[in-house]
Amino acid sequence: MASTQTRRHALLLTPAEVPEAAKMLRDGALVAFPTETVYGLGADATSGRAVARVFAAKGRPAFNPLIVHVAGADQVAALAVMDATARDLAARFWPGPLTLVLPLREGHGLSPLVTAGLDTVAIRVPAAPLARDLLQRVGRPVAAPSANPSGRVSATRAAHVMDGLGDRVDAVLDGGPCGVGLESTILRTAPLALLRAGGLAVEEIEAALGRSLPRDMTPGKVQAPGQLSSHYAPARPLRMGVTSRDRQAVLIGFGPVSGDLSLSESGDVIEAAARLFDLLHLADSLAAEKGADRIDVAPVPETGLGRAINDRLRRAAAPRDMPQP
Ligand code: TXA
Ligand code: MG
Repeated sequence: MASTQTRRHALLLTPAEVPEAAKMLRDGALVAFPTETVYGLGADATSGRAVARVFAAKGRPAFNPLIVHVAGADQVAALAVMDATARDLAARFWPGPLTLVLPLREGHGLSPLVTAGLDTVAIRVPAAPLARDLLQRVGRPVAAPSANPSGRVSATRAAHVMDGLGDRVDAVLDGGPCGVGLESTILRTAPLALLRAGGLAVEEIEAALGRSLPRDMTPGKVQAPGQLSSHYAPARPLRMGVTSRDRQAVLIGFGPVSGDLSLSESGDVIEAAARLFDLLHLADSLAAEKGADRIDVAPVPETGLGRAINDRLRRAAAPRDMPQP
């Protein structure tokens, strides 16, 4: 059909094609897949570029941290630190609709874009057999937000994903309707708090723990992790929209503005998003080396992922009115 010629459309994969879906994920593609809660928009969590494409596909105006999906609790140790409470909860409720926010482990290998630069990571072991089979075959952690465009309702059928994101993802694995149909319950374990009510009832968790769960669901708080702490902000003050070099600063370039480092020499916002958190860290150490007291960043266009990049940079550039944790 002539009208569809310019519109890329996702492959619809059947359960028999799980090996193909796994291969695509390993190759950096975006593959939506069913879990027992909702469909997730999956990407290799160790690939900054793949994860950046997730944010682009969803049209998210900011980099919210994503949930990392693994095939089994035994795969968590390489990524995060589990205390006794986390281990208890995992033994009781994984696989299932529970996400645990845990401290990141050194050498975790995840793209910093997955955690939005935080020092914690949200991890989930889904129960749906198709998701488990897929994750097992991928053999790497898979980052997956709900497979809906930003601001729209979550997808619980492959057709919902096709309708919302069909022209922006590479494949949709069709496993039929989701059993739970509601996103996972999110718990932070240290200190223990409920961050999002979801597919696992709070009462069940409280019964298992033998204590009541404190709530920490301040609206906007989790959506804006930058406001939780200054983890993602560099140690030095940051200035945006800078087009020329200054001896007192490390310049992070973009496109035609070349700096000490570059978000993307070709001016590609997806590449820039994938490198953003790494470069902010790098710029800090470079500044320490050359005795610079500021980080300058070249202008980034306010289009596509550029909006999320600029959102993050504005937060990093904002006055430091929060106490350091
Ligand atoms: O059921 C689900 O959880 C689905 C399926 C696909 O697994 N996923 C899902 O992802 O709902 P998403 O991106 O729509 O919601 C993930 C939320 C983030 O918006 C944030 O609130 C929270 O998880 N989150 C992720 N990492 C976090 C962290 N390090 N600290 C606190 N909250 C975090
Ligand atoms: Mg969502």
